Amino acid sequence: MWAVVFMWILLPARRAGALAPSLAPSIHSHGACSRQFTRSTLCYNLRQHVNPLASYLQRPIDLPDTWVEDRFEDPTLPFHIDLGCAKGRFCIALGEREAGKVNVLGLELRALAVDIAKRHLERSGAKNVAFLASNVNVDLERILRDIEKVGSVGRVAVQFPDPMFKKRHRKRRIVQPPLVDVIARCTQPGTEIFIQTDVFDVAEEMRHFFRSHPGFEDTHEDNSDWMSHFNPLDLHTERELGAMSRSMPVYRSLLHRVEYDKLGFPMEDWIRTASNESVRTVSHSERTQVVSPNSKYRYLAEKFRAQSDGE
Ligand SMILES: C[S@@+](CC[C@H](N)C(=O)[O-])C[C@H]1O[C@@H](n2cnc3c(N)ncnc32)[C@H](O)[C@@H]1O
Repeated sequence: MWAVVFMWILLPARRAGALAPSLAPSIHSHGACSRQFTRSTLCYNLRQHVNPLASYLQRPIDLPDTWVEDRFEDPTLPFHIDLGCAKGRFCIALGEREAGKVNVLGLELRALAVDIAKRHLERSGAKNVAFLASNVNVDLERILRDIEKVGSVGRVAVQFPDPMFKKRHRKRRIVQPPLVDVIARCTQPGTEIFIQTDVFDVAEEMRHFFRSHPGFEDTHEDNSDWMSHFNPLDLHTERELGAMSRSMPVYRSLLHRVEYDKLGFPMEDWIRTASNESVRTVSHSERTQVVSPNSKYRYLAEKFRAQSDGE
């Protein structure tokens, strides 16, 4: 009888992940994790969203001084840096395609996703790809400076970042003015910035932050040109494939780092102004027009609209 009660209480709780304390440090730990997971555990515990502002994610990444040389066969090759690379399939595909020409570094907040990416990488064998479990809003400056010491940053990409629709969650979006300024200060003129998403509001905000910084110039001046039918990388991320399979429009921008007067630029003023700016150049009717009627994004757009109307 007690055995039956025990099974009834314990097993569902276990299935729901409530009794998986042994995994908690790996999910929440900031550093890389080398635990072995079964396939089902991985599917179970990979959380969809993590709050990058949570206090346990503010600790800077712990890396040896020689990590760039240690992780890349030829650290002098130009780097593609992918911010928010999730399980890394895109990074590995890019590394395989550009072997001997480009190094690819994937940065991802969720340590468990990085574990999965590293497993895929082991199978691939690519020597020009690496992943770090990192909060880019905390670590990007250190990472870019270390790379620039031995090589160069060729491209920084932000692809399909978490949209964080609620107004009070927008500060959790990956592209924030301080991050834009870090990229400007820690890269050389010529570095490419590639941004893409299927959420118009997020695309506009990201593009606005980069365009309004004197360290970047857009390759397209036309506001309505979002390169929706053309991806300059000619390789798609998992999210991008998902959006394309649902016939969702994708908004892309390719910018370049340009020379600018770092000393004469009032960086703090710009960060404060840009952070307080709300990018609202599209009317609500236009916003819903760009959303496909048969997708879950319709629901999200409706929710966003209702929320904006209530503000
Ligand atoms: C929607 S996924 C997109 C994944 C991939 N880029 C794609 O296009 O398929 C966004 C990823 O960014 C990660 N992320 C969010 N904030 C981050 C941060 N501050 N630092 C690093 N990664 C972050 C999330 O954990 C998530 O895996």
